[in-house]
Amino acid sequence: MGTPLSRVELSHRIEQHLQSWGLKLFKDEADYFAWQRNVLSPTDLSSLHQLIQYRQDQTDPTADIQFYDLAANADILPVLYSQRYNFFAEVGVAIAQRLFTVRRVLDFGCGVGILTTFWASLFPDIEFLGIDRSSHSIEAASNQVSHRGLRNIRFECRQIPYDAMTGTHDCIVSTHALFQAEDSPGLSSADWNTFARSHDSARQLAVEEATGIGERIDALCGLMSPTGKMVLCEKTRHLGRRLLLQRAFARREFYPMSTPSLLGYDMVGVQVEDGPLYELVRQGQERTLAWHEEPEWKEGQSLYDCSGDTAAHLSAALNVVQGAMSHDVQLNQVIGSCTLQVGIWRKALAYGWVTTTAGFHGMLLGSVRDASIIVQSWTRFAQMSESDVLESIQQIWGNEDPTPSQDPIPAYENHTIAAQEVWSALPDRSIQEEQTFHESDGRAMHIELGRSGPFTYIYWANTYDQRQLMLVDSGHDDWLAAYYHESLAEMQSSAHF
Ligand SMILES: C[S@@+](CC[C@H](N)C(=O)[O-])C[C@H]1O[C@@H](n2cnc3c(N)ncnc32)[C@H](O)[C@@H]1O
Repeated sequence: MGTPLSRVELSHRIEQHLQSWGLKLFKDEADYFAWQRNVLSPTDLSSLHQLIQYRQDQTDPTADIQFYDLAANADILPVLYSQRYNFFAEVGVAIAQRLFTVRRVLDFGCGVGILTTFWASLFPDIEFLGIDRSSHSIEAASNQVSHRGLRNIRFECRQIPYDAMTGTHDCIVSTHALFQAEDSPGLSSADWNTFARSHDSARQLAVEEATGIGERIDALCGLMSPTGKMVLCEKTRHLGRRLLLQRAFARREFYPMSTPSLLGYDMVGVQVEDGPLYELVRQGQERTLAWHEEPEWKEGQSLYDCSGDTAAHLSAALNVVQGAMSHDVQLNQVIGSCTLQVGIWRKALAYGWVTTTAGFHGMLLGSVRDASIIVQSWTRFAQMSESDVLESIQQIWGNEDPTPSQDPIPAYENHTIAAQEVWSALPDRSIQEEQTFHESDGRAMHIELGRSGPFTYIYWANTYDQRQLMLVDSGHDDWLAAYYHESLAEMQSSAHF
C-alpha cells in the first residue's frame, strides 16, 4: 500500500505524463483544429473523417475497432487524444486517489494505455493488466511499456466477453469503455410526467442486452475477486443511462462504497459533463451506500431573467407590490434610486424584482427551490451602496434592449428538468388543449396548452426527461395557441422521438 499523494501532486504528475505522450492542452476549438490540420497529413485527416462517419453509421460492428486501430497510429495518436486532455487529467487523478489500497488492477478497454501507464508509473507495487479489442492500440500501449521501463504492467488484445480470460483482480477500472452504445438513452421514465423509472426487470434485461452492457459486466465480474472493487467512469450523466448502469450493478449486488462523484471539464473549449465516477463493491464487503435515482438538480437551473417592458408587465401580473399579502416571503428595500423586492408568488414562483427611478425594470424568476439564490443576491444588494447596486444590475441584465421581434418575449421560459417543478406548482392550472403520444415500447411525449392566473403556458415533456415550459402573459394567448398547433403538427409528422 503506497502513501497517498496530494491532489496537487497528482495533478502535477498527470500533466507531465500527458506531455510525455505528446498531448497538448487547447482551450479553444479553432486553435485545436488549426493545429490538427497543420500536423496531420491530408490522407490521415481524410481516413479519420471517413472512419468517424463509418462508425456513426453503425452498420459494421468492426467499425469501432477500425477507428481505434487508426487512432493508435503514431502520428494521429497525440493529435486525436489531445482533444481528451482534460478528461485524462480529471479522471486520471480521481481514479489514482482510489488505487492506494489495491494490488492487481485490470484496466478494461484501456485504449493506447495513456491512463494505465500513468497509474503504473505512480504505483510500482501494483500489478496492472490493460486489455483492449483494438490490436493496434495494444501494440502502441506495449511499446510504451519498454520505452518507459515499466515492470508492473502488461497489455493484451482481448474482446470482452468473447475472448477467454483467466486471473483475478482486486480492482477493475473502466473509463468510457463499458457503456459504449453512445446513442442509447438507456431506461425511459415510467411516464412523461415523472422522472422515476418503473421496476421492470424484463425491460432492464432487454436494454442491457441491446447495449451489450450486461454481458460485459458479467464477464468482468468473473475476473474480479469477491472482495474487490470496480472503479468506473462512463458517459452516464443522462438519467436514463445512469439508471441503466446503476440497476445493472444493483442487480448483481454491487453498491457504491463512496459517493459517486460528478465530473466536469473543458474539452477543447466545450464544457463537458461526465461520469459519475463510481467506486463499487459487492454487498457485504464494506459499509456500502444506497443507490440514488433522483435526477440531478443543478442549483439555479430554474432561474430566468428579463428586463424592460417584459419585466414591467410581469411585475404587474405577479402583483409585485410592497407588502402584498399573497406573497409568502417579502424583502423590500429602497437604496437611493433603486427599489428591491423579493417574494414568492402563490407558492409557485420565486421572484426578485428591481426598479430604478431612471425607469429600469429587472426580474429574476424561478422555482421555489431556487428562492434562496434570489434571496441571497437581493440581500447582498441590500448591503451595497447605490452605485454598487447599479453596477450589479448592469452585470445581471446588461443594458441590451432585446432585439425587436414579432414574437412576444416569454414571461418565463425553461428547458431543463426544473420546468416540471414550476409547471406542477402553477396555481389553478387549467388545460385548454393537450395531446399525448405513446409508442408501443412505452415511450411517451406530451404537450399541453393551459392557463394559470395571469399566464398562458405551453408545457412539453417526454419519457427521456426532456422538459420545456413557456409562460406568456394572457395578452399573447393567440400567439401561444398558434405556436402550440405548430409544435403539435411537428410532433405528429416526426416518425419517432
Ligand atoms: C473511448 S475508448 C477509451 C479508452 C481508455 N479507457 C481511455 O479512457 O482513454 C474505448 C475503448 O474501449 C475499447 N473497447 C470497447 N469495447 C470493448 C470490448 N468489448 N472489449 C475490449 N475493449 C473494448 C475500444 O477498443 C476503445 O479502445
